[in-house]
Amino acid sequence: MHLSQGLFLLSALGVAFAASSTHEVKESVNPPRGWTLHSVAPAHHNIELKIGLPQPNFPILEKHLYEVSDPFHERYGQHLTKEEVEALVAPHQESVDLVSEWLATHDIRESDIQRSPARDWVTIKVPVRLAEKMLDTTYHVWVHDASGDSLVRTTSYSLPKHLHEHVDVIQPTTMFSRWKAHKSTIHDVSPAPASLTGPNAKIDASCNSTITISCLQQLYNVGNYTPSADVGNSIGITGYLEQFANRDDLQTFYAEQRPDAVGTTFNFVSVNGGLNNQSADAAGVEANLDVQFAFGLSFPINSTFFSTGGRPPFIPDIGTPEDTNEPYTEWLDFILAQENPPLAISTSYGDDEQTVPENFARRACAGFAQLGARGVSLMFSSGDGGVGDGDDNPATQTCLTNDGKNQTKFIPGFPASCPFVTAVGGTEFIEPEIAVFFSGGGFSNFFARPAYQDEAVKKFLDTLPPGTFEGLFNPNGRAIPDVAAQGERFRVFLAGEAISVAGTSASSPAFTGIVALLNDVRLKAGKPPLGFLNPLLYTIPEGFNDITIGNNPGCGTEGFTAIPGWDAVTGLGTPNFGKLKDLVVGY
Ligand SMILES: *[C@@H]1O[C@H](CO)[C@@H](O)[C@H](O)[C@H]1NC(C)=O
Ligand SMILES: *[C@@H]1O[C@H](CO)[C@@H](O)[C@H](O)[C@H]1NC(C)=O
Ligand SMILES: *[C@@H]1O[C@H](CO)[C@@H](O)[C@H](O)[C@H]1NC(C)=O
Ligand SMILES: *[C@@H]1O[C@H](CO)[C@@H](O)[C@H](O)[C@H]1NC(C)=O
Repeated sequence: MHLSQGLFLLSALGVAFAASSTHEVKESVNPPRGWTLHSVAPAHHNIELKIGLPQPNFPILEKHLYEVSDPFHERYGQHLTKEEVEALVAPHQESVDLVSEWLATHDIRESDIQRSPARDWVTIKVPVRLAEKMLDTTYHVWVHDASGDSLVRTTSYSLPKHLHEHVDVIQPTTMFSRWKAHKSTIHDVSPAPASLTGPNAKIDASCNSTITISCLQQLYNVGNYTPSADVGNSIGITGYLEQFANRDDLQTFYAEQRPDAVGTTFNFVSVNGGLNNQSADAAGVEANLDVQFAFGLSFPINSTFFSTGGRPPFIPDIGTPEDTNEPYTEWLDFILAQENPPLAISTSYGDDEQTVPENFARRACAGFAQLGARGVSLMFSSGDGGVGDGDDNPATQTCLTNDGKNQTKFIPGFPASCPFVTAVGGTEFIEPEIAVFFSGGGFSNFFARPAYQDEAVKKFLDTLPPGTFEGLFNPNGRAIPDVAAQGERFRVFLAGEAISVAGTSASSPAFTGIVALLNDVRLKAGKPPLGFLNPLLYTIPEGFNDITIGNNPGCGTEGFTAIPGWDAVTGLGTPNFGKLKDLVVGY
């Protein structure tokens, strides 16, 4: 549409003339390290633009979140309703109107617009050429050097000056992250270990080389606790990148490791066209790992697997006609719109914090806060690169910043670095259980250290000799992980065969299974679910097995060291359900 038509439309609607103000740069980033500019974006390419309008009352929501999550506050457990949360993240009407007005000047009408329930996100599907005009930019195809993945992105975009204060973020523009599963697979595993317990051993010796449901129950002191299917409890696993959870494999797994669950299965929910292809060779290692262990540990609690479609990378040579956003925004939009999301949800995907634009990371994190305020516990794996990034071999990691300065820095993972989620690191072995070397740990460069971990983290920092890793990390940042669980040698079934899987990808669903059991304890006692966990967890460190051996090397360093108390390798430690179940009903 030409400018004159736009102006005609505006005057016909009687709206302000301001929509014609000149463009000014809204956001500009350095070309990210590790990506090469390939070509201009194809003209036929469509983009789903998500426009985030400011949430002026977010600080009030955050205050509510901390009150209902603080075990010493009188409002503990009094979670907000979906509508109350939405009211607190709603944008000013003026922002809604001015953005609509601007879209109308580009011939985009209300019927072309999708709005989130709180109206804080506006989504439109536009050809790349129109997006370029609206944002006064040029989109290019960028290729990730190491993987060959491609994305259609820009390094800078503009908005009419009067809109700057009415728009927080627009994506996809400058975001170069690649959502990855935090796991590795080792095939060729020995037959099922004999579950023999010696006369004096507390835990089966086989658990030192193979982790099963029984091993986690023994290690984490689940005893013979039996949760119920009918107290309104629920647990969820998210799946991305065409990772499908296979129901036959779950049966095989249950037959071996959870016989009482044979014949039961999970609910499947498709998000943004996500599939759950049940062909044996379409089964995903990550998805099978997650559902087998999270649902196996928490059986018979109502379990749901979410498969989110919308997969970058875009493949320029085939000319993929659409380029969706990062799939986890799709999932977050979807789950926020649900009346009853699962009460404990595990996600084993993430990326280096530095690949996510800060304003976008803040918005996603604000979305996690909304779920927490509604009583949902969110677990994320902390990453598999130790103190370094997830892209490289820990032995050769360079850990360069992608801010154009190429400085060496520890690279924390996102979403684990969001203070409103519970970041789960990894351990291995038994008697003693020690930190596994790849356990993602460190300090956010975006988010400040939240009050709930002040004392624990300061104590840890005080143990570091002066000058330790100086300049490599932000000692005032949100520290990860919060907790840990086993992350090595999980015995998973895939296409009918047993395989061995490792990663904090395994730790997060394992921990989440325990959280679901704790919710069972609370619900049976007539109490609300746990919701956002961290403020509670840091007040009950005695509910954890403190991990005091091991370290998480990366970036050419030995990384942090596990010590008594909280540390940046295993957080508070691994759960002791027997103790936690008594502690969590005390509030
Ligand atoms: C399911 O996966 C199989 C094996 O990868 C593939 O052949 C089949 O086309 C897929 N089905 C669908 C509906 O995508
Ligand atoms: C279990 O969860 C699913 C999906 O959220 C829901 O549709 C179903 O009603 C739940 N079933 C029970 C028994 O609560
Ligand atoms: C950073 O590294 C990239 C690629 O390795 C190089 O092109 C660029 O010039 C470097 N920048 C600085 C400031 O050293
Ligand atoms: C488990 O294996 C580790 C590593 O080989 C070893 O150090 C530890 O003693 C073993 N634990 C037991 C109980 O055998």
